[in-house]
Formats: sequence, C-alpha cells, structure tokens
Amino acid sequence: MANEEQQLPAHVAANREAWDGFAADFVAHGEESWATNEVTWGIYSVPESKWHLLPEELADKDAIELGCGTAYVSGWLAKRGAKPVGIDNSPKQLETAKRLQQEHGIDFPLLLGNAEDVPYPDASFDYAISEYGAAIWCDPYKWIPEAARLLRPGGELMFLGNSVQMMVCTPYEAEGVEEETPVSTTLQRPLFGLHQLKWNDKSTEFHISHGEMIRLLRNSGFEVLDLIELQPSPDDTTSYSWMSMEWARQWPCEEVWKARKR
Ligand SMILES: C[S@@+](CC[C@H](N)C(=O)[O-])C[C@H]1O[C@@H](n2cnc3c(N)ncnc32)[C@H](O)[C@@H]1O
Repeated sequence: MANEEQQLPAHVAANREAWDGFAADFVAHGEESWATNEVTWGIYSVPESKWHLLPEELADKDAIELGCGTAYVSGWLAKRGAKPVGIDNSPKQLETAKRLQQEHGIDFPLLLGNAEDVPYPDASFDYAISEYGAAIWCDPYKWIPEAARLLRPGGELMFLGNSVQMMVCTPYEAEGVEEETPVSTTLQRPLFGLHQLKWNDKSTEFHISHGEMIRLLRNSGFEVLDLIELQPSPDDTTSYSWMSMEWARQWPCEEVWKARKR
C-alpha cells in the first residue's frame, strides 16, 4: 500500500475503495453531463434555468469542486469562464474525468486527494462547490472548516445532497436490507446524533441535522445565505428507483446550502 493511502482516515480509505468500484456506473452520466450545455442538478436532474443555484458571475473566479467525480460540474464552471480545480478521492473517477476533459478540450487541474484536507494554501479560491461529493461523502466537521480555510473573505460555498428528511426515512443500512428499497414515509432512524451512516457496501456517508449544520457553518466562519429544498416538477425524471415522484413531491429529497465566507 502506498504511503499516502496508509495515512488516509479509515472512512476515506473505505470510500476510495467503494468509489473505485462504483466508478464504471457513473461513466454514462459523466459523459452526458459533460456534453450538455443545459445544467441540471441531482437525482431528478432539476434544471439550473429554474433553480439558479450557480452564481450569475463566475468569469475569472478561482473555483474548487470538492469531490468532483467525473468533474462535469467543473466543466460547467469552466464554460462560464471560471478557473476550476477538481479534487476527488477515487483514481477511477478521475480517469473518466481526465478522458472527458480531453474529449471536450477543457483543461483544469484534477487532484487525487481527500477534500477534508486539500493541498492548497489558505484563501486560494472565490467559490467552492460540491454536488454529492464532499457534501455527503466527507465528514462535515472536517470538510466545512476546510472549505472555509480555502475560500477568500466574501467567497461562496454551495453544496447539494440528499435531504435530512430523506436520510431519516431511508431504511437500508442494516444487514440484509436491499439498497434499492424505496425510501419510507415513516421515520427509520433518530435525527439526534445523526452523523455517519455506514452502508453494507462498506462506504460511509455523512449527514447532520439542519441545526447542527447552521452552527457548524457559522462556527467555521460562514454566513448562511440559503437552504433550498429541491422539489422536482411532475415532468422531471429520475433513474433512481428508491426515490419516487410521489415522495419527492411531498418532501424535499435533496437540499442545497449556500454560505458566504465572512
Ligand atoms: C456522486 S460523486 C459526485 C460527483 C458528481 N457530481 C456526481 O454526482 O456524480 C461522489 C464523489 O465523491 C468522491 N469522494 C468521496 N469521498 C471523498 C473525499 N474524502 N474527498 C474527495 N472526494 C471524495 C467519490 O470518489 C466520488 O467521485
């Protein structure tokens, strides 16, 4: 095992192995997302043209995508004139990202590493973003202070992942429960103490309550700008069988946080 891997926190090493295993399943989505000019977000592909999650002005902004996967979000930022850097923990995901960069003729740094501990000096960036990367796969008590360190005063952070409501209604975790089991309409786990969720495939995901998140952001030097609960339109579609339109129209299945570094 390489030195660098020996030093990874246990959840980061486990998530690297897990994501190298999942990477092949994310190639097609990466290819489609790199190829389109129509930005969409999350599991229901809700359109940017409706939700306006990105800042209006990105030209010349130094941006970092924390847990970039196939890096199509960084590709979108680059097309809007930003200067992105992508960091991801999975060599296999980065292989796809590098191939797609070449195919689309868009070049920016792609780093293999842990978004909880990024090898850039303080105040290197104007904008930090994560769509289902650090947002759910890194320990918030580590990656949120790290994002604050990386941002310049006035810089913005935006991150998107599964909602807290969805996570407390998610049944699978216990041995023997299929991962494709639909999200329940009843509470399946406590909200108090919610932090790490260890899945059967050995990966670890992270979610904390809204109150905890507000305190963490503020204590890390951020001003909270918004918490946007995404509701798909009836004609949006998903390939994820565990999240029905019926559920997602009644409760937020995804949430977006926006914060500004003080
Ligand atoms: C679902 S992908 C997110 C990328 C893309 N937006 C998407 O939705 O496909 C999750 C990514 O988070 C990465 N990841 C997990 N733990 C990480 C960590 N500690 N540091 C950086 N990236 C991490 C995984 O390797 C994976 O590529």
